[in-house]
Formats: sequence, C-alpha cells, structure tokens
Amino acid sequence: MSRAASHTASPESLPRHIAITMDGNGRWAAARGLARSSGHEAGLVPVRLCVEECSERGVEALTLFAFSSENWSRPAEEVASLMGLFLSAIDREVGELDRKGVRLRIIGNRQALSVRLQAQIAAAEQRTAGNPGLKLQLAVSYGGRWDIVQAARTLAGQCASGALRPEQIDEGRFAGALALADLPDADLLIRTGGERRISNFLLWNLAYAELYFSERLWPDFDRAEFTRALEFFAGRERRFGLTGGQLQAPPSAAGPAMKAPRP
Ligand code: FPP
Repeated sequence: MSRAASHTASPESLPRHIAITMDGNGRWAAARGLARSSGHEAGLVPVRLCVEECSERGVEALTLFAFSSENWSRPAEEVASLMGLFLSAIDREVGELDRKGVRLRIIGNRQALSVRLQAQIAAAEQRTAGNPGLKLQLAVSYGGRWDIVQAARTLAGQCASGALRPEQIDEGRFAGALALADLPDADLLIRTGGERRISNFLLWNLAYAELYFSERLWPDFDRAEFTRALEFFAGRERRFGLTGGQLQAPPSAAGPAMKAPRP
C-alpha cells in the first residue's frame, strides 16, 4: 500500500498549506566540524522529503523559508555559498519536481538576486507553471514586512492612478496584493532548530496558523518528525476567534452548530 493510501487523516485534519522555517543547518555542520555551507547542502535532503510527503498526502501547498531579507547580512562567503546552492539545486531538482507534477514558485525580492539566478528561477517557474500537484514556494530574499510593504505600494499605486478608491481596500483585496495571493493562509508552521520565533516569515498569512516547534536541526528532520507535526496539527481545535462552546454546541432550533469560519 502506498504511503498516501495508508495515511488515515481526514481531509479536515490535514493542513492545506504548510510553511516551514528550516533552521539549524549551521549548528548541524558545526557539531560535525564542517563548514556552515555543508549544513545548508545537507538541508536539501529534508527538503526533498517534505516535498514527497506533501505530494503523497495531498497537501495543497508547501512554503519553505530558504533565505530571509535579513540573511543578506551574513558573511559574504555564506551568502555566496547559499546563492550557489539555490542555483545548483534548482538546476538539479527541477526535472524531478516537474515529473512529480509540482508547481515551483519563488517568492521574495528577486531584484536582489543575480541575473543568472533570476533567469533560472523564471525558467523553472515557466516549466512547472501548469502542473496540477503540490504548489511549492521557496521564499528567497523574502521578509513578511517586505511582502506587506510591496502590497501596500501596489495598492497605493492603484489609488494614485484612479483605478482604486482607498475605501475599497479591505482584507481580501490586501491579501490579493501579497506574494501568496492565490493560496489559502498557512494552516501549520513548522520551525526546526529549537527557536520559537516567527522571524519575519509570512506575517500576514500565518495569522491563524498552528505553530509546531521542533528541537530537531533541519538536516535531521525526517519522516517521523514530519508525521509528528501533522499529528500535532490534527489534535488542535481551530477556533478562528470563536469560543470552544460555539464550535461544540449541538444543532439547535436556532440553527446548526457553528463551524469556525476559515479565513
Ligand atoms: C537557517 O539555518 C537556514 C538557512 C538560512 C538556509 C536554508 C536553506 C536550505 C535548507 C537549502 C534549501 C535549498 C533549496 C533550493 C530549497 P541557520 O544557518 O540559521 O542555522 P543555525 O541557526 O544553526 O546557524
């Protein structure tokens, strides 16, 4: 039986959109007397594993935090090795992603990337654009604040040109100007490496996410830990601002029990 077939989670208990902060590569490498770049290289193994798991289980979207707006301030050597890793990894993996039906997209300030990397990203996105499977986003040169600012700028431009009136801006329209406009909000955030922070990841889209913090360093993240994160998610009561009583109240003459509104 395939792993997908043996998975027992009901559709409601499976997150539609998983976001992952892949932390701990540097510590993993240091513990082995290796350069930090070796930790990042080793981090590709769990990336493949998560793509496989999400594809097989029918998760709609997976967004991975690969390089933050703030990571540009790391030592130049580490930045260069990460940029080289993105280039080689996209080059190496795009065929397999395409074969699996994965749609790959990069979110972030791509003007900050080299022309070569920008071209490679554009080619990979184009090649996989029509794929019906997992929607995989790599956040590169990405910051949640950057995302919100660029959305505000887009809407301000539309107001300035007369295409939009300020009073027409609501949450839906604002969300539509963000990098992940076409995806549901993240349901589950997994962060490895033992830190319990958001660190400027999808600030808007994580508004109602369940947060799973793993002590594992990212290169050690495996299928068992991924399953534990899903089990944690399945055990959460998601209230979206309602009370537990509202969610559990039996159907009455006044109407059926309330179902938490999914933003
Ligand atoms: C954070 O760990 C990790 C990064 C800044 C890089 C993450 C990148 C990868 C796993 C490579 C993925 C590549 C593709 C193409 C998806 P850290 O360096 O901050 O670790 P530390 O906290 O132990 O120092």
